[in-house]
Amino acid sequence: MAGEDDKGGAGAPEKPVETKSASKGLDRRDVLRGLSTVPALGLFGYAWQKQRAYERAQKEAASPPKAKDPNLREINVALLGAGAQGEVLLNAMLRIPGLRFRAVCDIWKEYNQKRSVNTLRKYKFEVNGYEDHREMLDKEKELDAVIIATPDFWHAPHTIDCLKAGKHVYCEKEMSNTLEGARSMVLAARETGKLLQIGHQRRSHPRYLHCYEKLIGEARLLGRIVTVNGQWNRAVSPDLGWPERYTIPADRLKQYGFKSMEQFRNWRWYKGQGGGPIVDLGSHQIDIFNWFLGAAPAHVMASGGNDYHERATHEWYDTVMAIYEYETPAGTARAYYQTQTTNGSQGYFENFMGDQGTLVISESEANNPGFLYRDPNAPAWDEWVQKGYVSAPKLQEAKKAEEGAVLDVRESVSPDQHRVPIILRDPYHQPHLQNFFDAVRGTAKLNCPSEVGYETAVTVLKVNDAIDAKERLSFRPEEFRI
Ligand SMILES: NC(=O)c1ccc[n+]([C@@H]2O[C@H](COP(=O)([O-])OP(=O)(O)OC[C@H]3O[C@@H](n4cnc5c(N)ncnc54)[C@H](O)[C@@H]3O)[C@@H](O)[C@H]2O)c1
Repeated sequence: MAGEDDKGGAGAPEKPVETKSASKGLDRRDVLRGLSTVPALGLFGYAWQKQRAYERAQKEAASPPKAKDPNLREINVALLGAGAQGEVLLNAMLRIPGLRFRAVCDIWKEYNQKRSVNTLRKYKFEVNGYEDHREMLDKEKELDAVIIATPDFWHAPHTIDCLKAGKHVYCEKEMSNTLEGARSMVLAARETGKLLQIGHQRRSHPRYLHCYEKLIGEARLLGRIVTVNGQWNRAVSPDLGWPERYTIPADRLKQYGFKSMEQFRNWRWYKGQGGGPIVDLGSHQIDIFNWFLGAAPAHVMASGGNDYHERATHEWYDTVMAIYEYETPAGTARAYYQTQTTNGSQGYFENFMGDQGTLVISESEANNPGFLYRDPNAPAWDEWVQKGYVSAPKLQEAKKAEEGAVLDVRESVSPDQHRVPIILRDPYHQPHLQNFFDAVRGTAKLNCPSEVGYETAVTVLKVNDAIDAKERLSFRPEEFRI
């Protein structure tokens, strides 16, 4: 049996996030290299300033309980679902000032619930632990917001009950394992007038925002985006286990919809509970396809199956390849997405190719910090280098010569490589959570409201339908709207 630490299992959540990314900061050598070849002010004026702002915010948030701003209205928060992702969110929230944790709800009382309660008590929060979310909502009248990180099939009932109890909700992706569930969440948010943010955290990531707003939007560096591809590849690893002495009694498991401890730990692989890797991982990146293309897809075709893992315990597909066709305002675009759990080659990224340039981006700084390539036919990017929107180019031709590689005259020279000069120094989820709490205080708009989460759910869940149907499926535009 794999231990609790085996979080990288085939059914594992997205990699645990490092809580400190300071060591991965803007590479000083890159800046200096840039400075030696281009006017420096742009890079300093923009990227450096951004960098400083993040550092300042990070410092301010370093000890939240002490750093109380008397003008900041405190928000009373509960965590519902204190598993791997609940813990990641908690660690990110502990860096956000102005939050007062009141409760943790989790059915694994002896283990996950206890761990989060203990963490919060160490930070001097007086928190109560609950097994049943309805009991928590009954007793914790002062709660303003609930952060939900339970398995996907619990998202709809949990979110709806919290909204109806008058709480604002941040609910993890995938919004729901069914469209009916996702739809009922949107309707509940509308009826109650409470906020519902869906946890597609890239929507608040400063590098993604910079690419969307400045590089694709204002500077139009990619020109017309014609093709897109993305992947999340993961190496083979064991299923998630649990410490034997913390086995949950069978009647409690049954009460909450789980047949066994094995299913409770690996719910992602089970029909009726999760959606397999395409939903778990693909939803993050396919959400970005829609966002950056400014459209929802018109058609999808997909091939997938359980090619490798034990079928009795892996009901969903371990390997999926999907092709979307979009009719964007600029014309047709095609997007390919792959996820597999048998080889981790090249990790995860999204790649947008336009008639003027290419952008390769990833949430992970280590995996891919954001590179741009200008196509030879595109106008020069000097203006954007000077403004600091992109770094100075690393000349590929010069690099090849350095490496002593022979370039055949008939080959086209690789385009020069620029870097996206925005580094997130906080935990990945912190900006998205911060955006949610800002919206609760009325100082921001949600970056991923339930309507956007729903559009992504429609886009992603249809891949599994297309695999089963073995044919190209179409989306009706009204399918995306509620
Ligand atoms: N945004 C991201 O990057 C990201 C990363 C990982 C996971 N997630 C999402 O977070 C959610 C949780 O994933 P995870 O990896 O933490 O799973 P997990 O299995 O580690 O944790 C789920 C927790 O919910 C508890 N739980 C289950 N049913 C419950 C119920 N009815 N009431 C209260 N508690 C209940 C379990 O005891 C467990 O502690 C999923 O929706 C997943 O898709 C998002």
